[in-house]
Amino acid sequence: MRKLTSILFVSVLALSACGGEPADTGPGQPVAHRRAAFKEILKAFEPMGVMLRTDEYDAKRFQAWSRQLMAVRDGPWGYFKAGTQYPPSHATDAVWSDAAKFAADKQAFFDATDKLAAAAEKLDKAQAATAYEAVHNACQDCHKTFKTR
Ligand code: HEC
Repeated sequence: MRKLTSILFVSVLALSACGGEPADTGPGQPVAHRRAAFKEILKAFEPMGVMLRTDEYDAKRFQAWSRQLMAVRDGPWGYFKAGTQYPPSHATDAVWSDAAKFAADKQAFFDATDKLAAAAEKLDKAQAATAYEAVHNACQDCHKTFKTR
């Protein structure tokens, strides 16, 4: 009985360590890696949106975040290998069943981030705002089909 209690206790701890979600126990932890890579993308992308929304656009800081986004934008994609849709992933089946659309949405994201980088390098606020919106739409478009929530 005492042994059972401690086993339960350990598994509760393991769950709470990652917010109630199961850990990625797959070989090489592809789900954990791609999720961490998306977080790096968000960390670079979000400050640009905050700057634009709060009217605190700073061309040099915006440029630095855009360069950071370019540095991390390749991160997640190599981890979407066949057979890697298991908890805690929030990817939908469509990533694998509609690989052509997934690839097209990914390309749209690359094209949009190329334009954002060009605008950021010009230090042009109006172009940066338009290009930021386009990247934001590219994130949302892909998530609509390929992410569960
Ligand atoms: C081509 C498709 C695609 C594009 C483009 C895309 N994402 Fe995602 N994103 C996904 C998928 C699929 C997941 C779910 C991955 C998983 O859980 O296995 C995801 C997950 C995430 C997550 C959750 C990470 C976690 O902790 O679970 C964040 C945050 C995120 N994306 C941010 C972004 C941002 C910001 C952009 C645009 C700058 C973006 N994504 C562009 C497909 C995309």
